[in-house]
Parts: sequence; C-alpha cells; structure tokens
Amino acid sequence: MGDPRLLEPARPVERFGTPALRALVTDLLDTMKKMNGAGIAAPQIGVSEQVVIFGGFPSSRYPDADEIPFTVLVNPVLTPLGDEMEEGWEGCLSVPGMRGVVPRFRRLRYTGFDVDGAPIDRSVEGFHARVVQHECDHLLGILYPMRIADMSRFGFVDVLFPDQDLQDD
Ligand code: NI
Repeated sequence: MGDPRLLEPARPVERFGTPALRALVTDLLDTMKKMNGAGIAAPQIGVSEQVVIFGGFPSSRYPDADEIPFTVLVNPVLTPLGDEMEEGWEGCLSVPGMRGVVPRFRRLRYTGFDVDGAPIDRSVEGFHARVVQHECDHLLGILYPMRIADMSRFGFVDVLFPDQDLQDD
C-alpha cells in the first residue's frame, strides 16, 4: 500500500493463451501460495493488466478459500445480483498485518475469460463473491481500506485476533 501502481486502473488483456500471459499466471500463483492468500491480482505484482486468480488452495489465513474453485479470471465484469450487502473481515497481501470489515454485495454474477480465452460466467454468493469483489477492485485501483465504512473495525491482525494464527506474510 502506497505504491502508485496499486491505484491505477489495469489494462484489458488483448491476446489470450500467450507465453507472457501464462508466465504472469504462474507468477501470480507462486506469490499467492507463498503469501497464503485467497487470491491475488496482477497489479499487486506490478503488472497493470486485468488478470486475477483466486481459490483452489487451503490457506491458513482464509480457511474457506479451498471451497472456491481455482480460477484464473481475465478481463472480468462484475454485476451485483440484488442490492443486499454483507459485512466481513478482509485482509490483503498489499496491506500486510492488517484486517478490516468491508461491506460487499452478497450475491453477484461475474463474467470474463480464462487464460486461453474461454468464457467464464458464474453467479456466486458469500465468501466467493467477496473474494471476487476484493480481487477485481485491485484492477480498478481500489484497496479494501478504501471500502471500509466503519474505521473502528480496521486494525492489526495480532491485536484484533490475538488467539488466532492468521499469519499475513
Ligand atoms: Ni488484495
């Protein structure tokens, strides 16, 4: 947080299935696993392209993360389904050591493409919907602290959750 590249809108990917796009996905996956994240977006590793990955692996930080299928999502478009909002704790690999309560749409549809350009179209809810909203916000230059409505519920992981092992990095 503080790096201006995290505040820039990312460019759409124009060519699918290229070695460069596959290498980017590999870098994202390696970083997500190493940092124990539930997802990661290309701008977080300094690449301003509309690529996010999420899910697929159990994470000590997000025990529910392996309930979400591993997904590479390119050029995503998010459409909220209804206007019901839900609050939940979030952290971010770009904001290490902290957590905050963020309101998100409870249900949403997301569309986009996989690494080869095959279309993806899913309607999801709950934690899955939250992770997608968090990661796709990175493509708009938005970090989760910018979405927090109640700043009294934003703080350091080891202070907020002293009894839990929620290692951030
Ligand atoms: Ni993040």
